Amino acid sequence: MAVIPVELAGRPYEVHVGVGLLAELVPHCRGRLRKRGVPIVTDANVHAAWGEVVENALRDAGHEPHWRILPPGEATKSWDQLAATVNWLLELEVERGDHVLALGGGVIGDLTGFAAAILKRGCHFIQLPTTLLAQVDSSVGGKTAINTPAGKNLVGAFHQPSLVLADLAALETLPERELRAGYAEVVKYGLIGDAEFFTWCEDHGAALLAGDTPLREYAVAHSVRAKAKIVAEDERETTGARALLNLGHTFGHALEAETGFSNRLLHGEGVALGMVLAARYSARIGLMGAGEAERAAEAIGSVGLPATLSELGLACDGKALAAHMLHDKKMDAGTLPFVLMKGIGHAFLARDVALDDVAAFLDTELAR
Ligand code: NAD
Ligand code: GLY
Repeated sequence: MAVIPVELAGRPYEVHVGVGLLAELVPHCRGRLRKRGVPIVTDANVHAAWGEVVENALRDAGHEPHWRILPPGEATKSWDQLAATVNWLLELEVERGDHVLALGGGVIGDLTGFAAAILKRGCHFIQLPTTLLAQVDSSVGGKTAINTPAGKNLVGAFHQPSLVLADLAALETLPERELRAGYAEVVKYGLIGDAEFFTWCEDHGAALLAGDTPLREYAVAHSVRAKAKIVAEDERETTGARALLNLGHTFGHALEAETGFSNRLLHGEGVALGMVLAARYSARIGLMGAGEAERAAEAIGSVGLPATLSELGLACDGKALAAHMLHDKKMDAGTLPFVLMKGIGHAFLARDVALDDVAAFLDTELAR
């Protein structure tokens, strides 16, 4: 098992990565579950796959689990589910010193973390991420949020978990498409700042996705280490370091918006294609070689993730896609910062990107 510290002043916590952590939940929580009753939020799919393991782990250690089982899917990150979850925690008389467990993917982690952030002005929570995306990204770093009719993740809080237990066994029941979508976030760490890790992904990505556990452990632990370093440096995304984690997200968000935030394009798939577009746009404006941009596209496309815009079958033009970017929450005094690359492993924040040039670029990509 790998143990990765997230070094936040006054609030450090650990991310444990290994096989069988859910079955050994209570010893890993090291006394944090201080009462018999343990509130645990999950979704119906995760409960079907892992409910019994977690139930037994808690009961065998003398705890009584209180389950809140939510509908799977992005729509669960809503005001209604937030309010109902907070009311449920209040009915359970959860106190600020108690820990709420979040068992699931990014949807459950984001919603439960936000509920914990506002319950009695903040109670503790433990992330038990069960998707690859949640293990390498969303469970670490304390971004919590819900969606509103105005957009995704527009209401939320920074609220750090007190512990993250990433059980690689959970990935065994994850649908293959979800696994691949999460893998995009693994490749992201290579593209942002670690060319060596990008090469590792080129060499081992297919085997990792096919089920090789030691490769998965290496990839998850390496990704978490990269994220922990960035979060420790720039917890609230104020200096620009954390903003690099948004590589591919501005393009990806526009694609998700155009496809109605639906199953047509999962978040990780949008990020995958968004990273390819960021690489190709970087090449277009002379920041990196076209060959390097195509290397990024190959690493993504070769494992079955979308790497060309035309494969989405969109019925819009580049201008319409660029228009979605204007609603991005990263808009800052009329400009939209873009994460671009000066090469693989050399991402940076560009503040002078002209949206009409991006629209023209997207037209060429739609026709590619
Ligand atoms: P998700 O939580 O919707 O999970 C994907 C699907 O897999 C769901 O149907 C879920 O029921 C199912 N599932 C989860 N684990 C399973 C398992 N082990 N076995 C079987 N089925 C399982 O999606 P996600 O990709 O994990 O997360 C996406 C969300 O994360 C988005 O809302 C996004 O905004 C958010 N996000 C947050 C951050 C952050 O820093 N907070 C970062 C990235 C993404
Ligand atoms: N997923 C981006 C971040 O945590 O900052």
